[in-house]
Amino acid sequence: MKLRKKGLFVLSFMLVAVAALAQATDNRMKIFIDKLMEKMTLEEKIGQLNLPVSGEIVTGTAKSSDVAEKIRKGEVGGLFNLKGVDKIREVQKLAVENSRLGIPLLFGMDVVHGYETVFPIPLGLSCSWNMKTIEQSARIAAIESTADGINWTFSPMVDIARDPRWGRVAEGSGEDPFLGSEIAKAMVRGYQGVALKNKTEMMACVKHFALYGAAEAGRDYNTTDMSHLKMYNDYFPPYKAAIQAGAGSIMASFNEVDGIPATANKWLMTDVLRKQWGFNGFVVTDFTGISEMVEHGIGDLQNVSARALNAGIDLDMVSDGFVKTLKKSILEGKVTVETIDRACRRILEAKYKLGLFDDPYKYCDLNRPKYDIFSPEHRAFARQVAAESFVLLKNENNLLPLQMTGRIALIGPLANNRANMVGTWSVAAVHANVPTLMEGLQQAVAGKAQIMYAKGSNLVADTAYEKRATMFGRDLHRDGRSDRELLDEALKIAEQSDVIVAAMGESSEMSGESSCRTNLDLPDVQKTLLQALMSTGKPVVLVYFAGRPTTLNWEQANLPAILHVWFGGSESAYAIADVLFGKTNPSGKLTMTFPKNVGQIPIYYAHKNTGRPLPEGKWFEKFRSDYLDVDNEPLYPFGYGLSYTQFSYGSIELSRNTMTNQGSITASVVLTNAGKVDGSEVVQLYLHDKVGSVTRPVKELKGFQKIYLKAGQSQKVTFTITPDMLKFYNYDLQYVSEPGEFDLMIGANSRDLQKTSFTLQGK
Ligand code: NOJ
Repeated sequence: MKLRKKGLFVLSFMLVAVAALAQATDNRMKIFIDKLMEKMTLEEKIGQLNLPVSGEIVTGTAKSSDVAEKIRKGEVGGLFNLKGVDKIREVQKLAVENSRLGIPLLFGMDVVHGYETVFPIPLGLSCSWNMKTIEQSARIAAIESTADGINWTFSPMVDIARDPRWGRVAEGSGEDPFLGSEIAKAMVRGYQGVALKNKTEMMACVKHFALYGAAEAGRDYNTTDMSHLKMYNDYFPPYKAAIQAGAGSIMASFNEVDGIPATANKWLMTDVLRKQWGFNGFVVTDFTGISEMVEHGIGDLQNVSARALNAGIDLDMVSDGFVKTLKKSILEGKVTVETIDRACRRILEAKYKLGLFDDPYKYCDLNRPKYDIFSPEHRAFARQVAAESFVLLKNENNLLPLQMTGRIALIGPLANNRANMVGTWSVAAVHANVPTLMEGLQQAVAGKAQIMYAKGSNLVADTAYEKRATMFGRDLHRDGRSDRELLDEALKIAEQSDVIVAAMGESSEMSGESSCRTNLDLPDVQKTLLQALMSTGKPVVLVYFAGRPTTLNWEQANLPAILHVWFGGSESAYAIADVLFGKTNPSGKLTMTFPKNVGQIPIYYAHKNTGRPLPEGKWFEKFRSDYLDVDNEPLYPFGYGLSYTQFSYGSIELSRNTMTNQGSITASVVLTNAGKVDGSEVVQLYLHDKVGSVTRPVKELKGFQKIYLKAGQSQKVTFTITPDMLKFYNYDLQYVSEPGEFDLMIGANSRDLQKTSFTLQGK
C-alpha cells in the first residue's frame, strides 16, 4: 500500500513537471513569435497563409522557378508534393537566405500509405485491425519522407465511409467510428512520434474535416447533409480522436456542411474544432477549396476568402484567394488584421513546433535518403503488413494454401503489372521497384512449380473507360487483340494447368479521388474470362484487387476460393505469394460491409432498427423495412474474414450483470484455435443500448483484440466494460450514458455473435 502511494506521488510529480515544461515551451514559443511578428509586414503575414503548387521544380532551377520570386518576397508559407531532398533543400535555402525575414517553409506531401516503401491502401491497412502495425507503418512513412525533406503529411484520412460507390473509401479506415478513431490515433502517433522533436517526426494533417465520406450518391465532391446527432455519434469521432492524439493540423473538406461549404463554416472550424475540442493547430484548405466556393455559389473570390479566414481557415492551398484579396478586405472591413495575425501565428507555431526556426535544414540531410528510404527492413515490414491486410473471403475445402508443385496458371489483367500494385495516392512510389504478381509468385515457387501466364482480358471492354481508370502513369498496357483472342490464349494455358490463380478486379485508379462507380460488379470482360476459367473444371483461386467493397455475388456463389488483396503496396506481390502458399496465415477482417447489390447502399452494420424491422431469418415481409428483390443482408458483414485455421468461441462470462457509472464489469470468452495451423483472430465486442432517449444503433463495436494462437491453443480474452463505452450524444448533444439494459455481443464478425446482457444502474 505504502509503495503504491509512493508510486502515485512520483507519477503526480512527473505529470506536474511535464505540464510545467510544456508551459515553459509554450511561453518561449510565444515570445519568439511575438518578436518575429512585430517585424512582419502585412504582406509577409498574408504570405505565410499561402500554400501554392510547387510547380515543376527541377534541381538547379529552384531559383528561377515561378514560385521562387514569391518565396523571395515572403509570399509563401509552404509548398507541397515536391519530391527530392536536394530540391527541397535548395528551395528552403531560398526562403531562409533570400527572403527578408528568412522564415523557413513547410514542405507537405500526400504521404498517405507509405513513401517509397508503400504499405497497403488505408482501407486494406485497416483490415489488419492491428494498431501496432498501423502505427509502425506511419512511423516508417515518416522516417522515409522526412529523409527526403518532407516535414508535413496530408494524412491520416479519417472520413467515415459507408458508400462504396465513393472511390475515396480506399483512403480511409472504413465505416466504423470506434475502429476509425483507434486507427486515427495510431497514425498520428506514428507520424508525429514523441513531440516532433526528432528529425524523423513529421506533422500530421487530419482530413477531410468534415463528413467528406457522406457525399450524396457516392459521387465525389457532392453535397452532404446530415443530422447533428449523426455527425457527433458517427462521423466526428475519428477527427476528434486524431486531434486529441495531438495532430498538428487539419484539412477542410470540399463538401458543404449544413448548407455552408466546410471551408467557410465557422460553426465547424471554430465552435466544434477549437471551442469544443480544444484544437490549437492550424487548418489548411483542401486544394482550391476557397476558390471553389465561387462555384458553390456563396460569393466572389474576395468574399469567399474573407469568409474562409473568418471561419477559422489559416492556410490557403493553391487558390491564391488570401494573397490576392485579403489586403483589400481589410480596407473594406471584411476581415481584421487581428484575424490575419491569428492565422499567421498558427502557421509560425507549426514551424516552431517542427523545430524549423532552430534548424531550417532539420529535414534536409542529403545523406539520409541512402539508408532511410526503401531499406530492406522497411520492405520486409511492408511485406508482413500487406499479408496482414488481405481478407480471405472464401476457401472451400481448404483449397488454399496451394501446394508448391505442378503447373500454376496465372491469369488476369492484374497479374503482370507493377504500377497497379501500390494503389491510389502513392505519390512517392517508384513503380520500377515494385514486383509484379507474376514475379512474386515466380520467386516463391522457383525450382518447385511452374507459373504460366496469360493476360486473359483487358480491364474493361470499353477503351475510354480503361483510359479513365488508368490515369497518372497507372497504365495497364491495353492489349490490342480481340477479347476472343485473349480469352482463347488464357484457356489454352488454363487447360494445361493444375490450378488457376485469377488476378482480377479494379485497376488502382478505379478507386481513390474522383474515381466513383455506380456498378460495382467485376468488369464485363473479366467476368466472362472468370466464367470461362471456371468452366475448365480446374480449381480457381480469385486474387481480387480493389480499393473498395464490390458486389461479388457470382464469385462468392461459384468460386472455391477468394482472397481480397486490396492494393497491398510495394511488397504486395511477395505478400500474396506468402499467403497463397501458406507461409502466412491470413487474418484480415473487413472494415466495410460488402453489399449484394448497389441498391442496398448505404449499407453498414451499425444501422438503426426502425419501427418495422424485418423479423430475423426472413428476407421479405410486406410492410416491413426490406426490398422486393434482394434481402437486407450484406454479402459479407463488417468484421468478416477467414483463416487457414478455425477459431472456436466459448460462452461469454460476465463478472456481474449490473454496473454503475462509477464502476466497470468484465466480459470474457475462451478462444481456441481448433484447427491445424497457427493463426490470429480478431475478437470483436459489440454493445447495444436497448432503450434510449433517442434511437440507438442495433449494435456498435466497442472493443477488439487481435489474438495469436498456436494450433490447439486456447486463451481467455477479457474486455473491460467502462461507463465511457456506454455513452453517446443525446438530442441536446450532451455526451451521456442512460441507465437501462444493454446487449453485449462477442464474436468473430458483426453477424456471428453470441449475446448476453447487463444493466447500467441509476436513475
Ligand atoms: C486533394 C485531396 O482531396 C486531398 O486529400 C489532398 O491532400 C490534396 N488534394 C493535396 O494533394
